Amino acid sequence: MHQLPEADTEGRKTVSRAVADRESRRSFADEPLDETDVAQALWSAQGVTHQRDGVEMRAAPSAGATYPLTVFLEARRDGCETLGAGVYRYVPDAEPHAVEEHTASSVRDELVAAAGGQNVVRDAPVSVVMTADYAITTREYPRHGERYVHMEAGHAAQNVHLVCEERGMVSCPVGAFSDEAVASAMGIETEPLYIVPFGKPP
Ligand SMILES: Cc1cc2nc3c(=O)[nH]c(=O)nc-3n(C[C@H](O)[C@H](O)[C@H](O)COP(=O)(O)O)c2cc1C
Repeated sequence: MHQLPEADTEGRKTVSRAVADRESRRSFADEPLDETDVAQALWSAQGVTHQRDGVEMRAAPSAGATYPLTVFLEARRDGCETLGAGVYRYVPDAEPHAVEEHTASSVRDELVAAAGGQNVVRDAPVSVVMTADYAITTREYPRHGERYVHMEAGHAAQNVHLVCEERGMVSCPVGAFSDEAVASAMGIETEPLYIVPFGKPP
């Protein structure tokens, strides 16, 4: 388990400024990211923000607080100053929050291929890969659960985009990928829903 620095809850820009400035950007500096920036992005997706009735509530809203998402980070070599190439699972409820190594070697080539060879996935120092276990939500909400999971992934991904904007990083939504190929590249059982490559601007 690799513990991450505490999240910054003060911020560097207003939310409105970040919303106004956000764009999909697909080119990155060839530089490793600071661990604090990576930690902040992961926290914004699924970090624990507070407790309610004994439940750890997270940074993105969730239908019935079911929390079906698992967030992974794919890092290339020198993608993040403190993490080697590989796949990491974000662990929101560790004290402090953390990432756990999932795959100790690069899966970048497979991930790029799974996303149809997109340069934005190839060139980013790291990508968040948002995944879900639908059953966690559909057992509570049989009729609308799948839709709720998709809505939740959108919330979590938008938080990542806005935190990137706030901290002077650039990011891009990536939805064009083969689900099976991403799952196989990442070695995951959960359903991949959203890739967010991010890094420093060129
Ligand atoms: C669900 C979704 C999937 C997307 N998939 C991709 C993608 O696979 N590759 C890509 O380069 N951009 C992708 N985009 C980014 C859109 O092209 C971009 O958001 C759109 O052109 C509007 O530009 P803006 O984000 O700069 O405002 C996606 C956006 C969304 C919302």
